[in-house]
Amino acid sequence: DWDLGDWAEKMKDEIRAAVGEDKVICGLSGGVDSSVAAALTAAAIGERLQCIFVNNGLLRAGEAEEVLASYRQMKLNVAYVDASEKFVKGLAGVIDPEKKRKIIGETFIRIFEEEARKIKGARWLLQGTLYPDVIESGQRKGAAVIKSHHNVGGLPKDMNLSLLEPLRELFKDEGRAVGRLLGVPENIVRRHPFPGPGLAVRCLGDITREKLEILRAADKIYLEEINRAGLYDEIWQAFAVLLPVYTVGVMGDERTYARVCALRAITSRDGMTAEWYRMPHEVLARASTRICNEVRGVNRVVYDVTSKPPATVEWE
Ligand code: XMP
Repeated sequence: DWDLGDWAEKMKDEIRAAVGEDKVICGLSGGVDSSVAAALTAAAIGERLQCIFVNNGLLRAGEAEEVLASYRQMKLNVAYVDASEKFVKGLAGVIDPEKKRKIIGETFIRIFEEEARKIKGARWLLQGTLYPDVIESGQRKGAAVIKSHHNVGGLPKDMNLSLLEPLRELFKDEGRAVGRLLGVPENIVRRHPFPGPGLAVRCLGDITREKLEILRAADKIYLEEINRAGLYDEIWQAFAVLLPVYTVGVMGDERTYARVCALRAITSRDGMTAEWYRMPHEVLARASTRICNEVRGVNRVVYDVTSKPPATVEWE
């Protein structure tokens, strides 16, 4: 067990030594990892860290605003790009999950690159890669935290950026602890992991603005009820999924024919395996009642009782 305060001091020295007088670019996602990596690097080199936050239109309700407020509080230097239109248009009619991911990834790179080019003299790209990401991508344990002269995949060679990954030795809970030491706001440090493709892989089938709005509304209610029950911190991830299925229901005297919303919650240490969370029935009951009453377009709610393996965390 190491002292994370000592670790952070040592890492700040390493960042300063590696970067020298260069500028560093960071893509912020609103998640813990990139935010903590940015806080650590800002603590080391200050204004020479320049961050970019791309809103892909696939975020949760209120997420972009909340995250931007936190970044302001952290005094990070952030360029905000609202690219919602481009992402949602690019996804129109696409059903295959891997194709969705590919489109989102490529669109992100294009927009990020355009923005990054405006930052003159940048030599480094900061990423919040954690130890489990290193293992999952099959890289060697203990490989250098700071790799010089490795051009970054996906970005054009002429940008000539080297990768800076100061959190490569840490597990998620350690990343969170470092974030707290650095004064990263609690709403960011506690935040559940959220996939890069966002709501696109939780809105099954093709993506439309209408479906995204339904999913956002249901997901918001579900998280409100989890928070109200004080369970958020016990859970690794919790989210709603909008199924491409219609079922029959009844509301007042009327027959309804509307969508099914699935709720999922899991516990995990690193996302590689996961156990479905034994959500108290009262929480499920409140979430279900509220979703059917308050979200037009949903008349049935189900709970996912599958662990990983055999299921994955996300439905797509
Ligand atoms: P799965 O669904 O593979 O998810 O069991 C494991 C963890 O990874 C997240 N996840 C993703 N994160 N891009 C990401 O940045 C993706 O395409 C992606 N797919 C899944 C998922 O939320 C869980 O934490």
